[in-house]
Amino acid sequence: MKASELRSKYIEFFRSKGHAVIKSAPLVPENDPTVLFTTAGMHPLVPFLLGEPHPLGRRLANFQKCIRTGDIDEVGDPVHLTFFEMLGNWSLGDYFKKEAIEFSFEFLTSKQWLGLPLDRLAVTVFEGDSDAPFDSDAMESWLRLGIPENRIARRPKKDNWWGPAGECGPCGPDTEMFFWTGQGEPPHVFSPDDKAWVEIWNDVFMQYNKTKDGRFLPLQQKNVDTGMGVERVAAILQGKSSCYDTELFAPIFEALSSIAGKPIPSSADPFLDRAARIVADHLRAAVFIMADGIAPGNVDQPYVLRRLIRRSVMQARKLGISGTFCAKIADAVIANYSDVYPELSAKSANIREEMDREEEQFHKTLDNGAREFEKFISRVPAHVTKKVISGRNAFYLYETYGFPVELTVEMAAEKGFSVDMDGYTEAYRKHQDLSRAGAEQKFKGGLADSSEMTVKLHTATHLLHKALRTVLGEHVEQKGSNITPERLRFDFSHPEKMTDSQLIQVQAIVNEAIAKNMPVSIEQKTVQEALEDGAIGLFVEKYGEKVKVYSIGDFSKEICGGPHAENTGSLGKFRILKEESSSRGVRRIKAVLE
Ligand code: SER
Repeated sequence: MKASELRSKYIEFFRSKGHAVIKSAPLVPENDPTVLFTTAGMHPLVPFLLGEPHPLGRRLANFQKCIRTGDIDEVGDPVHLTFFEMLGNWSLGDYFKKEAIEFSFEFLTSKQWLGLPLDRLAVTVFEGDSDAPFDSDAMESWLRLGIPENRIARRPKKDNWWGPAGECGPCGPDTEMFFWTGQGEPPHVFSPDDKAWVEIWNDVFMQYNKTKDGRFLPLQQKNVDTGMGVERVAAILQGKSSCYDTELFAPIFEALSSIAGKPIPSSADPFLDRAARIVADHLRAAVFIMADGIAPGNVDQPYVLRRLIRRSVMQARKLGISGTFCAKIADAVIANYSDVYPELSAKSANIREEMDREEEQFHKTLDNGAREFEKFISRVPAHVTKKVISGRNAFYLYETYGFPVELTVEMAAEKGFSVDMDGYTEAYRKHQDLSRAGAEQKFKGGLADSSEMTVKLHTATHLLHKALRTVLGEHVEQKGSNITPERLRFDFSHPEKMTDSQLIQVQAIVNEAIAKNMPVSIEQKTVQEALEDGAIGLFVEKYGEKVKVYSIGDFSKEICGGPHAENTGSLGKFRILKEESSSRGVRRIKAVLE
């Protein structure tokens, strides 16, 4: 069964059970600052899950575009994706556990619908803890339907609890359905840790509202929220061992093969096949993100998009693809999905253009790095037999040019050089320690010294950055910063000259923030966590790495190396001296503290 049939069967089934069908919401949530992307079908429904009446009633169903970046390191295995489609059905205070489980069971096993064999199905239920009891209702429902006890696993909150999608909101225990994808019969006792059992559907029983202070209060309206992964179920229905082997990815691999001039994936080399899958996954995700109006940039969704594209470019090199290729992959994705998601074709010219621009910009960065690399190589006399790029230089290429160390290793090997990886790791660690210690700062953008005045101006820069975003809009991004003990200089993206009244407003906002004497605090987070927290700033070029996030009261949150003043009260009076052009689309402000 193809994905298109799966989607329509699902919708037809839930229609027959009295559900109204709603549209897939955009990937970028409207009015929800707690997350960057729509991560599940329930997301756009939060107000209704909290009790707001839905105009279409209490039973809803749909398929929804989702992005999840939390599992990005798993992408490339058979089942993990950053973009995926979720089939979902909801009860807004209507049916609850028993009916929801019956619906799921019927859709999965009935010959009229998916007809999956019962002996390959297994489920998990919530085992209970101090927040909520063991989900005996779910357990009994499954037993009644014929799922044997040895195929029901009891799991803790870490595995069998869903939500809230952000910091707080509706949540509750869930029951997950798994399908055996391994060779032969499944083992007698089900263990969800066995990777051959693939999770396909999740029924969440939303009984609680998690409050900001971490309490679980019963929801007045008990809801059901379910989610089934289209790609995973399509693979199972087609007898394929991976989502990437379905028709949802085939045109992308065809395009990649024609660009590379060889079959991709080749199945001969798992390392390369993983790279191919990452490219396919990331660019598919990138196209959908762009179709929802996002362009690559340095913060928030634009930053995630940038990383997806740049990571694809790097992975594609492993496949022997080094020219500009992303727009061709975008074409394949657009052609494959436009009948279901017409926004893709509507935005196709734009997507292609942005892909090209981002790719070219990244190639320029890489070229600059490559020039530096050549300099390092040329400094080593020809007669030296053991040719090595020092760890310090490899780190310099990474830090200054965003040059991944794997690339340095690859290029070095071509020239008969090796890279001192221990030295690289040491340089990397030393850099982290340095920025942690807050001494001898290497703040990108140029915090030249750590004198008291410089530090104060640095904190003022954060206030200025935030004030500019408040007055001019969220398109304002830091493009550079240079601070001396006398003044700050801040470059930011903005297409036109600021008006006098805008400058006065910005200055006033900064001075108000100073007058409030707000504390400056610091936390260590991964870039992902920082992004999800709404932090702005210049991001290091790596997933999963810890960065420092400086918060000034609840006024500003920025990724930065520090150091900073302890509170804003000590800064004095902020005065803008000058606003001028720095380069195309970039403005420059010079300001002082008096
Ligand atoms: N929200 C749940 C999930 O994402 C069910 O839709 O798994």
